[in-house]
Amino acid sequence: MSRIVYVNGEFLPEEEARVSIFDRGFLFADAIYEVTPVLDGRLLENEGHMARLERSLRELAMPAPMPVSEIAALMEELVRRNDLREGSVYLQVTRGAADRDFLYPEGATPTLVMFTQARDVRETRASRVGLRVVSAPDLRWGRRDIKTVQLLAASMAKQAAHDAGADDAWLVQDGFVTEGSSNNAYIVTRDGTIVTRQLSNDILHGVTRASVLKLASEAQLRVEERPFTIAEAQDAAEAFMTSASAFVTPVVEIDGVKLGDGAPGQVARRLREIYLDSLAEAG
Ligand code: PDD
Repeated sequence: MSRIVYVNGEFLPEEEARVSIFDRGFLFADAIYEVTPVLDGRLLENEGHMARLERSLRELAMPAPMPVSEIAALMEELVRRNDLREGSVYLQVTRGAADRDFLYPEGATPTLVMFTQARDVRETRASRVGLRVVSAPDLRWGRRDIKTVQLLAASMAKQAAHDAGADDAWLVQDGFVTEGSSNNAYIVTRDGTIVTRQLSNDILHGVTRASVLKLASEAQLRVEERPFTIAEAQDAAEAFMTSASAFVTPVVEIDGVKLGDGAPGQVARRLREIYLDSLAEAG
């Protein structure tokens, strides 16, 4: 069944959607994106995603195709037109099409595309049994706080993890974990403290991360924002990751070492529940 997608002002069947070969998203990865989850036909945490989109635009001096409030309205319309109940909306903004030149073009019209992806997000196998991750060197660029479509290093790491029989890669720089290939990474120490790397240009400032840390503090759980090593993670009581598409998902094995009894940890399960409850309340 063909989806209805959005391209530069038009809702079209996906087969009819076109972007120029001169688009700078295609030629330079001069593009940013957001993924917003959808549950029960409703976009979740979209204010956070729109705020980060604005920040990414600003950091790259990229003109906005329209105010984010209008982008959000188009996302709602796309969900409606596809009758999407559960999954996500992907949106991408590029600096637009112009003859190939490293300098930013003057007067190019930004490209805006959006599409839906239908998939289970509430009940997933990963959330029940947990993920096995392997470490990989973090080969990405120095501005990971900007959500650009330069995803090849992350894609390589995830493919290598998959080829090694694991589910995902945790990326390591100067001996410390930065984040997962497409998610933020956490451990829970044996004394029950949640540890995740502090915000900087080294990691994406996850929308889910911000909400989960706030909910954790409200639930009187101790949170420490600092780097951790793979060895510390392997010795932790439990581990988990967060993202818009995975919410809170337990990690049960790191580089072949099982955490605890190898089952999803209590803190991760509880945080997933609290997070899902908070989304339901927000509706
Ligand atoms: N990935 N870190 C990286 C490198 C990410 O790509 C993502 C999101 C996150 C989590 O951010 P958030 O909670 O705002 O989704 C952290 C999206 C889901 C993706 O690329 O599909």
